Amino acid sequence: MKTQVAIIGAGPSGLMLNRYLAKHGIESVVIEDRSREYVESRIRAGLLEAQTVDLLEEIGVGDRLHKEGLEHHGIYLQLGAEKVHLDFADLIGYSVWVYGQTEVQKDLDAACDKAGQQIHYEVTDVALHGVDSESPSVTFTDKDGNPQRIDCAVIAGCDGFWGPSRKAMPGADVGSFERVYPYSWLGVMAKVAPSTDELIYARHEDGFAMHSMRSEQVSRLYLQVDPDDDIANWSDDRIWDALAKRMATSGWELKIGEITEKGILPMRSFVSGKLQHGRLFLVGDAGHIVPPTGAKGLNSAANDVRFLGQGLVEFFKKNDASLLNRFEERAKETVWRVTHFSWWMTSMLHTSKNEFDNQLQISQLKHVMRNRALQVNLAENYVGIR
Ligand code: FAD
Ligand code: PHB
Repeated sequence: MKTQVAIIGAGPSGLMLNRYLAKHGIESVVIEDRSREYVESRIRAGLLEAQTVDLLEEIGVGDRLHKEGLEHHGIYLQLGAEKVHLDFADLIGYSVWVYGQTEVQKDLDAACDKAGQQIHYEVTDVALHGVDSESPSVTFTDKDGNPQRIDCAVIAGCDGFWGPSRKAMPGADVGSFERVYPYSWLGVMAKVAPSTDELIYARHEDGFAMHSMRSEQVSRLYLQVDPDDDIANWSDDRIWDALAKRMATSGWELKIGEITEKGILPMRSFVSGKLQHGRLFLVGDAGHIVPPTGAKGLNSAANDVRFLGQGLVEFFKKNDASLLNRFEERAKETVWRVTHFSWWMTSMLHTSKNEFDNQLQISQLKHVMRNRALQVNLAENYVGIR
């Protein structure tokens, strides 16, 4: 196969980039090691910044989001039984959208189908070659067991944290940073109407709890647990009891329903030393990871797609590599902002085993709950104003 851009990974980064490039008349080939069904049903992010929504609209996948997504104008912060609403619309005049990553993925897949864009699913043995040259290539074995090669001008590594692209980037490890947090999230999806109009982030002495949602009929809830905890220790009743206890306020009741999915997610921050080398670029989770507390993973992937997409349009359409050469510099500015914000939200809201840290966190959270300037700062970071 011959194309302009070989895209490794058909998650949100890979398909947003494919659609962005297609809109500008640039060809790409996408390969993915999982099945389409697996990728579409992977439950992950749920909250989209205004800029992500703008990008999805721009690449032609904003319609269902606007019909079925829920526009939120703020969040609740809670410390013990004290709860305050941060009204982003009032604080900074912006909103966010609740719309699951599974739905974004289905919309991207449908747009690819409509455009006749083939995606090579269930490939194996993916290897990158010649990333220092002007004609790199990607080899793989297709679903039917046939060896394949994509000759291209650019490779976009959109293959998540564990994919082969970062490993194929010379020197990417130098200057990489990683922090693994001493707690995990137990996440559940439940067939029950949300017990709140907007998301609740609650710090309780038993640990963090969060109430999100996917629709007016489906709730998404999270609990802080130890990283070595086992989901088998958490019966549905134990989960509902812990959620109700950690989010309790007077007069508020948690609605209980059927849990359709549950799992424990580790939390890490990671920033790759390099996001570009020669003709290889790392996009989204391939280059950086944040803990989910700030809701930034998918949103910063969208930010990378915009920057790389803009650089590639100048490169292919005007034969000008100057913007493309600045991809890493432009992307990293946002990456470090969201890394800081996600770390700050995470460390403020989770209980620690160290009492000094706990007291600092409580003091910080109280300050945010009472101080408008800090609320403006939180709101700007949360909605992604840059
Ligand atoms: P991915 O979604 O990881 O996509 C990468 C794709 O590459 C995958 O489809 C993978 O199968 C494919 N791939 C991997 N290896 C290969 C290979 N060898 N060949 C071909 N393809 C390959 N973010 C939030 O904002 N809020 C959340 O609540 C949230 N929860 C999350 C929960 C979990 C369990 C995880 C893992 C992430 C969560 N995130 C969350 C982060 C968010 O989902 C990611 O930031 C987002 O998926 C990044 O998209 P991506 O396309 O860059 O990476
Ligand atoms: C989610 O809906 O899954 C979600 C929302 C906001 C977060 C984290 C997760 O901060």
